[in-house]
Order: sequence, then structure tokens, then C-alpha cells
Amino acid sequence: MKKITLKTKNNNIPIFVGNKIVSKKMFSTLIKGKDVLIVTNKTVGKLYLNKIKKLLPSFTVKSIQISDGEKYKNISVFSKIQDFMIKNNFDRDVTVIALGGGVIGDLVGFVASTFMRGVKLIHIPTTLLAQVDSSIGGKTAINHPNGKNLIGSFYQPNCVIIDTEFLKTLPEKEFTSGLAEVIKYGVIKNHKFLRWLNNHANEIINKKKSILLKIVEISAKEKVNVVTKDEHESDVRAFLNFGHTLGHAIEASMKYKNILHGEAISIGMLYASMLSVEKNNLSIEDFNLIESTLKKLKLPTKVPTKITNKNLIKHMSFDKKKKGGKNRFVLLERIGFCVINTTIKEKYLEEMLKVFRG
Ligand SMILES: NC(=O)c1ccc[n+]([C@@H]2O[C@H](COP(=O)([O-])OP(=O)(O)OC[C@H]3O[C@@H](n4cnc5c(N)ncnc54)[C@H](O)[C@@H]3O)[C@@H](O)[C@H]2O)c1
Ligand SMILES: [Zn+2]
Repeated sequence: MKKITLKTKNNNIPIFVGNKIVSKKMFSTLIKGKDVLIVTNKTVGKLYLNKIKKLLPSFTVKSIQISDGEKYKNISVFSKIQDFMIKNNFDRDVTVIALGGGVIGDLVGFVASTFMRGVKLIHIPTTLLAQVDSSIGGKTAINHPNGKNLIGSFYQPNCVIIDTEFLKTLPEKEFTSGLAEVIKYGVIKNHKFLRWLNNHANEIINKKKSILLKIVEISAKEKVNVVTKDEHESDVRAFLNFGHTLGHAIEASMKYKNILHGEAISIGMLYASMLSVEKNNLSIEDFNLIESTLKKLKLPTKVPTKITNKNLIKHMSFDKKKKGGKNRFVLLERIGFCVINTTIKEKYLEEMLKVFRG
């Protein structure tokens, strides 16, 4: 088991990474009070809730299983969990465990940050995306009918337990989608890692245990590095949005149906790489390495035909990262080095989309 420490202004947060590491001993060392609330969804609950409960014999454990899906990351489910906590007389010593993917992590993080002005929180992420991205960094959120993640807080967990064993039951498509964020760390921070991913594509697809551990550990470290430098997303943390401007626009244009986040981000990363070739002299070799890694890991690279360019442009201008009336594009100078470009005009973006579709 590896321990990575996320150092924030107020705390040191341990992030444990390993295979089959969730254990009684770990819980009894980490949890201080008597009450524990596990929040999960019905899919993950069916697979893992009893197993986790068995590892908590010396605590008073309650659990809630919410419905599975992004649409349940909302205010009414948030209230339902708060009601449950109040009815059960939980006090400030309760420890809340978020067991699930990013939806559970975001929602439960927000619950923990607000119940009695903040209680202890342990993330046990069970998707690849949650293990390499959403469980690290302390961003919590629920959705509003007007947009995703509009309500939330920055709230760091007390620890994160990343156990790659959970990935065994993850649907193939979800796994592949999570790989887009893994590739992103290579592209924006770590050229060597990107080459390694490209050279080990088959072993990654086959989920070889040692390979999974390596990709999760390196990705978690990269995320920790960025968050350490910029806890509240003022500058370098924005580089994590590489590929997300077009990616979010694709997701929104498809009304968040029939495309997973990582799939949309994969397309967005290749588009941002192409803009980088034009605007920042990204070399063709670097562009080719990015494209080939996405393709080898079975991620999409073309905008779905049913979305119009007009629709994409409209959504790109609504993107949250658009500050001061300008599109803020994260581009690359070379693999591992990002820059923010605020001068790209919408007309140009549209022209490039035409080329990009081929
Ligand atoms: N807070 C952040 O910094 C941050 C960063 C990125 C994304 N997010 C958020 O994360 C969410 C997406 O997270 P996600 O991709 O993990 O989706 P998700 O939580 O919906 O999980 C995807 C699917 O996998 C299932 N699942 C989870 N673990 C499983 C397992 N081990 N075995 C079998 N099935 C399993 C879930 O039930 C679900 O159906 C979005 O709401 C997004 O906004 C947050
Ligand atoms: Zn993302």
C-alpha cells in the first residue's frame, strides 16, 4: 500500500492507494467517534455495502443507498440524507463514508461539508474517474436544473482510500471513460507517463493488476501536485480543464445522454491539441502521441455527427471557464506544458471544428 499526502493550508490528508487495502484495521485507526454513516448507491451498494459494513464491527453503522445516476446529485437527495442524519441524532462526531463514483463523492462531500457545519468524511472511490480525479481535491457539488455542479463547496475529506479491487466490477465503458483523465495527466504534466501509457495499452485494457496500480498511483500523485499548488482553482488547477471546454460543450449538446464524461473529454483533448499545433506550435510528434494514445485506449476522437457546430459554439461560450467575456482555452506548448489562451475567437473555433470533423 502506498500513502500519498495532500498538504492543504489547514491539514495533511492521507490518500491510500493499493489493492485489497480496505480493512478493519484501517477503519479502526482512521475513525475516531462511534457513529458511521455509509452513503452509496443501489448498484455499488449491492456489490459492496455488506462487505464494508463487516469491516466496521466496533462502530454503530447506518447506511443509505440512493438511486444510481447523475440526476440524483440534486437538492432533494441532499435533503433526504440530511433528514436521515438529523432523525438518527447524529452529532458532530459522526464519520460519513462516501462509497461510490464521482456522483456519490460530490453529493456526499457536500452533505458532509454542511451537516453541523462540517463533519468527518472518508472517500472510498469505486470508479476509475473517482479514484484518479473526483475524490482528490475537495470539490463537492450538486446540480441545479440550470446547470451541473452549480451548488457546492470546497471541503477536504479526512482521508481517501483508493482500492483498485473495486475496478474489477466496473462496466467496461466506465473504465475506458476514466482512462481519458489518466491520459490527461500525461498530456498536461508528464510526458514520460504518456509514452508509458501508449506502450502499455494492451495491459491497461486487460486491467492487469500491477498496471492498474501504477496508473492510479501516478494519476493520483499528479492531481495531488496540482491541488497542493492551487487548492481553490485560481491558476494551475485550471490546467486540469484541458480538453474540458469542448468536452463540456459536447456533453451539454447531447444533454448528458449517450456520452460519458471521459469520452467527451477525449474528443475535447484532441481538439485542444489541434488548436495548440496552430496557436502554440505544439509539435506534430506530440500531437500524434496524444492521438495514438487516445485511440489505443479505445477512446473516441471525433465529434458525434448529430451535434451541430453552432450548438457546440453556443455551449462553449456558456462554459464556466469563460471569464471576462473570453473563452479561456487550456492549450499546450508541448506535452507537459500548458498555457491559457484567451484570444481565440468563436469564428476560429468554428472553422477548426469543421476541419476537426474531417
Ligand atoms: N469533485 C470533482 O473534482 C469532480 C471531478 C470530476 C468529476 N466529478 C463528478 O463526478 C461525476 C461522475 O463520476 P463517475 O464517472 O464516477 O460516475 P458515477 O458516479 O455515476 O459512476 C458511474 C457508474 O458506475 C457505477 N459504479 C461505480 N462504482 C462501481 C463499481 N466498482 N462496480 C460497478 N459499478 C460501479 C455507478 O453506479 C454508475 O452507474 C460527475 O457528477 C462529475 O461532475 C467531480
Ligand atoms: Zn474531467
